[in-house]
Amino acid sequence: MPERVTKREVVNRLLAGRPQTPGNRANAFAPANIALGKYWGKRDAELNLPLSSSLSVSLGRLGTQTEITPLNGHDEVFLNGEPVPADDTFARRSSEFLDLFRPPGTGFRVRTQNSLPTAAGLASSASGFAALALALDELFGWGLTPRELSILARLGSGSACRSVCEGFVLWHAGERKDGLDSFAEALPERWPELRLGLLEINAAAKPLDSRTAMARTVATSALYEAWPVQAQRDLAALRRAIAAKDFEQLGQAAENNALAMHGAMLGARPPILYWQPATVEAIHQVWQLRAEGQKVYLTIDAGPNLVLLFLEGDAEILSRSFPQLEVVTPFFAGSA
Ligand code: PMV
Repeated sequence: MPERVTKREVVNRLLAGRPQTPGNRANAFAPANIALGKYWGKRDAELNLPLSSSLSVSLGRLGTQTEITPLNGHDEVFLNGEPVPADDTFARRSSEFLDLFRPPGTGFRVRTQNSLPTAAGLASSASGFAALALALDELFGWGLTPRELSILARLGSGSACRSVCEGFVLWHAGERKDGLDSFAEALPERWPELRLGLLEINAAAKPLDSRTAMARTVATSALYEAWPVQAQRDLAALRRAIAAKDFEQLGQAAENNALAMHGAMLGARPPILYWQPATVEAIHQVWQLRAEGQKVYLTIDAGPNLVLLFLEGDAEILSRSFPQLEVVTPFFAGSA
């Protein structure tokens, strides 16, 4: 096998012998996901292959709905009903992904409806690329397995491989150079009482995208050397907590994992800090509530916003402490 495998080679391998002509229209939904054990650092930037495994929970009905229609000529990308200029990052990344599958001369109209703020660190690129992969599978009639769909979504954005599943999702880092063993799968456990609270500090696009921040952390932060051990330990704790429905163990592992990731970023040169004053204020508020006996924990992705973790019975009291809290039920009746 050659030293480096390209996206196109992976796609050729996955789609060998599958239909190459798109149908008329397809539609798919993928939930957003929030990592409890984070993915931070790549072993291969082209294929979005991670250095360590990660574990997320999907955001139930919050995510991305994508409709795709083939066109003659150029792509047309719409985000929440508005046309997106072709040179915008969102349109460019969508078109680059579509390049992997497009028959010569074919464009696509992609209508994306996000129920989360795009690029605010709440994983909308994850649900975006997952929904696009699912919609393409339907449009072309490939009939890919969940594992293959996860691999395809990962080529768009790493964390997207976890958004093809619902509930608790484990992304196996894998070891192969072509990444065919780096995919996400749903864990069997459900936790209907678990709640997530989205605390939006700032919905504006983040100043530094996660791929740049990740690469800089890996390349320059001495604190990143501790990350593989941290990631492995937290993943084991999270899995034990999920199996035993031990909420405090889950919350502690998730919060510590997120803070360690941000710590590693602070150690980068130049340093990376996504937090804003209001982020820090909210962190202290969560810790104060916990000191008062409230069972609430937090996690933060590559952005200023918080996601709170708590149980159903505490939703009301936390909504009083954080009036802007959007409470999400990851496991609802009818979800997988
Ligand atoms: O998939 P990306 O490149 O958007 O990276 C996601 C990184 C984090 O959201 C911070 C962590 C994670 O595991 O989702």
